[in-house]
Amino acid sequence: DELIISSKAGYNMWPGPYGEWGSRKYLIASLNQSLQRMQLDYVDIFYSHRPDPDTPLEETMQALHDIVKSGKALYVGLSNYRLQEAKQAIKILKDLGTPCLIHQPKYSMYERWVEEGLMDVLEKNGVGCIPFSPLAQGLLTNKYLEGNIPEQSRAAKAHGALQASAITPEVLAQLNSLNNLAQKRGQSLAQMALAWILKDKRVTTVLIGVSSVAQLHDNLATLNNPDFNQEELAAIEQILKTN
Ligand SMILES: NC(=O)c1ccc[n+]([C@@H]2O[C@H](COP(=O)([O-])OP(=O)(O)OC[C@H]3O[C@@H](n4cnc5c(N)ncnc54)[C@H](OP(=O)(O)O)[C@@H]3O)[C@@H](O)[C@H]2O)c1
Repeated sequence: DELIISSKAGYNMWPGPYGEWGSRKYLIASLNQSLQRMQLDYVDIFYSHRPDPDTPLEETMQALHDIVKSGKALYVGLSNYRLQEAKQAIKILKDLGTPCLIHQPKYSMYERWVEEGLMDVLEKNGVGCIPFSPLAQGLLTNKYLEGNIPEQSRAAKAHGALQASAITPEVLAQLNSLNNLAQKRGQSLAQMALAWILKDKRVTTVLIGVSSVAQLHDNLATLNNPDFNQEELAAIEQILKTN
């Protein structure tokens, strides 16, 4: 009761056609397995992790609604739903009587599609927003600024979500300019990147992924300086434009 515990289903969990995506069978089985593993009776928020092109949206949303009715989740959310899918899903859930609590999209200085309509839809419908990958997989930190790839970093892993090839001289120049601005604000690049996500009042909170406790401390200190002035915001836009 002191924590908000959430879980998602949508990606590959077990072999066969019923082990991923958005069917009723998969969502309910996946949640049941998660509850067993966590030894819990229910989760606070259960997300559909991604829209399923082969299952009617109505079936996926009905399953989320029934999961709440069954007491196995208190609220439901969506993740990785683009504008039109999100709009439809939010409407279906509203009509069923289980309003969508929150949407979890990918959002960072380097990936801004949510600004093209999704945030407006969320605001209009009273749906929260919890962005993931706010540091662009670690790019928006002090880790790669000198052009080296530290051994333990995500970019050093063969199958990591961040490929070393993404760290081009142009990206490095941009990151260093952003870092100079962060230093002037008296914070790390990671802190500035997180504050930049939180500046939008429609953003409820931000998901932080870390590989050490030191990173967690660094990121939590974002709250020491979360506000931007207009000049700083304009300077960030200017830096992001150069490529
Ligand atoms: N809904 C979805 O589809 C979806 C998809 C992906 C992730 N997520 C969720 O979102 C969370 C965050 O995503 P993400 O891990 O991709 O986020 P991210 O914030 O873009 O990247 C996190 C990585 O950045 C590095 N990092 C973090 N803080 C740092 C700091 N202060 N200094 C230096 N490096 C730092 C670490 O990488 P190193 O390992 O290199 O140290 C860390 O693993 C995940 O834990 C997951 O729960 C959701």
